[in-house]
Amino acid sequence: MTIERWRSRWEEGRIAFHSDEVHGDLRRWEARFLSGAQPPRRVLVPLCGKSRDLDWLARRGHDVVGVEFVEQAVIALFEESGRAPVRDELGGVSRWRDGALTVLQGDFFALAELPGLGVFDCVWDRAALVAVEPARRDAYVAVVLGLLRPGGRVLLNAFEYDQTRRSGPPWSVPDEEVRARFASRGVERLARVDAVAANHEIAAGHDYWWVSTYLVGGAAP
Ligand SMILES: C[S@@+](CC[C@H](N)C(=O)[O-])C[C@H]1O[C@@H](n2cnc3c(N)ncnc32)[C@H](O)[C@@H]1O
Repeated sequence: MTIERWRSRWEEGRIAFHSDEVHGDLRRWEARFLSGAQPPRRVLVPLCGKSRDLDWLARRGHDVVGVEFVEQAVIALFEESGRAPVRDELGGVSRWRDGALTVLQGDFFALAELPGLGVFDCVWDRAALVAVEPARRDAYVAVVLGLLRPGGRVLLNAFEYDQTRRSGPPWSVPDEEVRARFASRGVERLARVDAVAANHEIAAGHDYWWVSTYLVGGAAP
């Protein structure tokens, strides 16, 4: 979807993807995802919306960078976290900062060219890979892996359903595709939930709708 269509969704309040709760995967898999040295870990959150997860990570001592191109979402993220950010410009991108929480307001696909961004220890991908147009998945994964330091980790929440039954976003990203795309870093599927059996609203009318959680780069040395 274009930025205009995402902006319309925000303006019209069509943001069913948003939850006011910190995501369960992050709480459940925190130790494996953020393991290693003590905080701070540098954590990237692509396509972050106004997710509560960023504030939660920052309050746990991590250095968090979200990326979101709709200004309304960025403003809401800081307001709803009780934060008053300072805003400046970085290479054509608006940078909003409060303490350990930064949001870069710009196009995620242009991030690789941003000067001085550095690399990240961890990437939290929730409703990001599945929100990207299938034709842009190669580019999306290339940016993520390009910004992930060697030995870094990705915690990824993905959906798998019959794509002939509806269009995205969210798009279906099959298990074998996730494994192939991140094979160079090692992929482990941590969990798989049947959203139909669990009666999740998103899966209504579908024969199957798997919600899977993956850890990339987390294999024991
Ligand atoms: C499905 S929502 C997920 C938001 C968030 N991850 C969450 O879990 O609530 C995708 C978000 O990414 C933003 N977005 C989509 N494409 C983007 C891009 N290329 N660069 C930056 N933000 C983008 C949209 O505005 C939207 O807020």
